[in-house]
Amino acid sequence: MTATVRALADGTEIPVLGLGVWQIRDGRECEDAVRWALEAGYRHIDTAQNYGNERSVGRALRDSGLARDEVFVTTKFDPGPRDPAAELERSLERLGLDAVDLYLVHWPAGGPTRAWDGMQRAHERGHARAIGVSNFGAADIESLLGVAAVPPMVNQVQFSPFEFRRGLQEACERRGVALEAYSPLGTGRHLRDREVAAIADRLGRTPAQVLVRWSLQRGLIVLPKSSHHDRIVQNAAVFDFELTGDDLTVLDKLDRTHGTDRALEHPWW
Ligand code: A2P
Repeated sequence: MTATVRALADGTEIPVLGLGVWQIRDGRECEDAVRWALEAGYRHIDTAQNYGNERSVGRALRDSGLARDEVFVTTKFDPGPRDPAAELERSLERLGLDAVDLYLVHWPAGGPTRAWDGMQRAHERGHARAIGVSNFGAADIESLLGVAAVPPMVNQVQFSPFEFRRGLQEACERRGVALEAYSPLGTGRHLRDREVAAIADRLGRTPAQVLVRWSLQRGLIVLPKSSHHDRIVQNAAVFDFELTGDDLTVLDKLDRTHGTDRALEHPWW
């Protein structure tokens, strides 16, 4: 069975499975999703300033009655000309927290180093226990490491068997940067794949569980999104089975990125 928690390079412990709340509406929908996730045993919630739902995440965390140190909370700097440290203070107000566990630069707007001074300031103030990046390719990571006093602990990218960015994974591993997978189900598209379905049928699991499990066995921290109770529960029931070496090989071959070291085929920034 895979461990449910691992250590980042600075020793910060991070649960390897989290609920991603991208595209979950602020208000009832987001509060329900986070509440159901916490009831189902998730101890890691991944939000962002850009998602517009930090208030709901905060409300659900408070309503859960769980102690602050029992849940790992990530938010992301909506990159632009503003100061990341000041923006994190606004996030903390919305979340109702004194600090987040992880604060990421959402994407390398204006270049990979632009936000880092402010990110380090947020870390120094104790408002972010760890800092990192998202949507950074291998070259972006190298540029950032060239100037960083506090190195990024995490790079969160789109990752699945269909986006098996081996080059990026190797580059991050060499540099002690943990890789997190967003859209591990291909925002739902990969659930319909025949090979994924065949493996799921053989194992008596669902395609979503196969894809989440693949990310875990490939060493990723994985962030499936759902706003449905049954799916949230299902996506976390992945610690009592294993994909075989043959399953992994079949899934690995679905990669369409040619093992790229880039974060995205079509950046939006
Ligand atoms: P919904 O939120 O309506 O449940 P990704 O994590 O790759 O971004 O994928 C999220 C998409 O996959 C959402 O559209 C979500 O729908 C859907 N989804 C999440 N978990 C499951 C599941 N176990 N079975 C079917 N669809 C799922």
